[in-house]
Amino acid sequence: MSDLKKIKDNFFSKLNQNLGLSEINQIKSDLFGKNGLISSQFKKIGSINESERKKFASELNILKDELQDLIDSKINDIKKDEINRKLEKEKIDVTLPERSFVRGKIHPVSQTIDEISAIFSEIGFSIEEGPDIENEYNNFTALNTPDNHPARDMHDTFYLDKKKEKLLRTHTSPVQIRTMLKDNPPFKIIAPGRTYRSDSDQTHSPMFHQVEGLHIDKNINMGDLKGCLNYFIKEFFEVEKIKMRFRPSHFPFTEPSAEVDIGYEIKDGKIVIGEGDKWLEILGCGMVHPKVLKNVNVDPLKYQGYAFGIGIDRLAMLKYGINDLRSFFECDYRWLSHFGFDPLDVPTNYRGLSR
Ligand code: PHE
Repeated sequence: MSDLKKIKDNFFSKLNQNLGLSEINQIKSDLFGKNGLISSQFKKIGSINESERKKFASELNILKDELQDLIDSKINDIKKDEINRKLEKEKIDVTLPERSFVRGKIHPVSQTIDEISAIFSEIGFSIEEGPDIENEYNNFTALNTPDNHPARDMHDTFYLDKKKEKLLRTHTSPVQIRTMLKDNPPFKIIAPGRTYRSDSDQTHSPMFHQVEGLHIDKNINMGDLKGCLNYFIKEFFEVEKIKMRFRPSHFPFTEPSAEVDIGYEIKDGKIVIGEGDKWLEILGCGMVHPKVLKNVNVDPLKYQGYAFGIGIDRLAMLKYGINDLRSFFECDYRWLSHFGFDPLDVPTNYRGLSR
């Protein structure tokens, strides 16, 4: 029997066994690899005498094609089988009930922070953040509230160590200090975030939210403060007119200091902002004390400005008609799905508090 016939019989019977892909690939290289059987037969052609050469070459070519075709069809069969097996396994049962789908909601406090941030960004304020765990210096001393100052007692501070060096910030005002220490004036920032005081009843929660504002430049005065707050409150409550009054007050870090009330009335059981003769306190503010500016290496003879601290939760309660502050933090999913906001309503220009 000729060599070619032997190869053909041998490999046809091999290939017709039930082979896997790797075994077929092995046969392919045994035949057609660099030193494969078929390749070696091709190399022989030159040494065959002329009378037989043509016949041998044509038989060899035919054998090569037959083997190649057989190999290709075997590989194809295996791949087809594999696809069919997968299709069989991954059949979708369209009669199954759908999985339940829960859509998250934005908490009213987060929504309010986003709205406040968007309003102040439009008038040139950038957003700063500070840590919830502060040192005593940034929270009090640098803000002209030295040890034994009576204002310290008013804050019901959560201290974190016996030496009273670390604490949960009682207001967002330490972000003023952090901002002014790391940069040079002018400053025009707001700083929303969590604040803490040991206090709990229907209108106080041990954790609450404030947004600090700070604008320091040459020639900034109380009129700028009034204009800025007036603009903010109108934008926030989406009203044309607002009644606002500045009441003299005291904060160690501002001089003069004021608390701001807005006028409102109750109509059909709902709060209407900007009308009526009732007053509601919403923020503390004032001109930044020269001592505070000196503490952060800003020359008070060259630069002055104002600061304010707004209670965010209170604004959210007013705008969205929520009457118990504690409900904000009870994590009741039904409450959230009622008072929460659709994620798509969030303004995109605020990068959000790290939550
Ligand atoms: N930090 C003050 C508070 O928590 C509010 C405030 C901020 C007052 C900035 C004046 C200026 O009550």
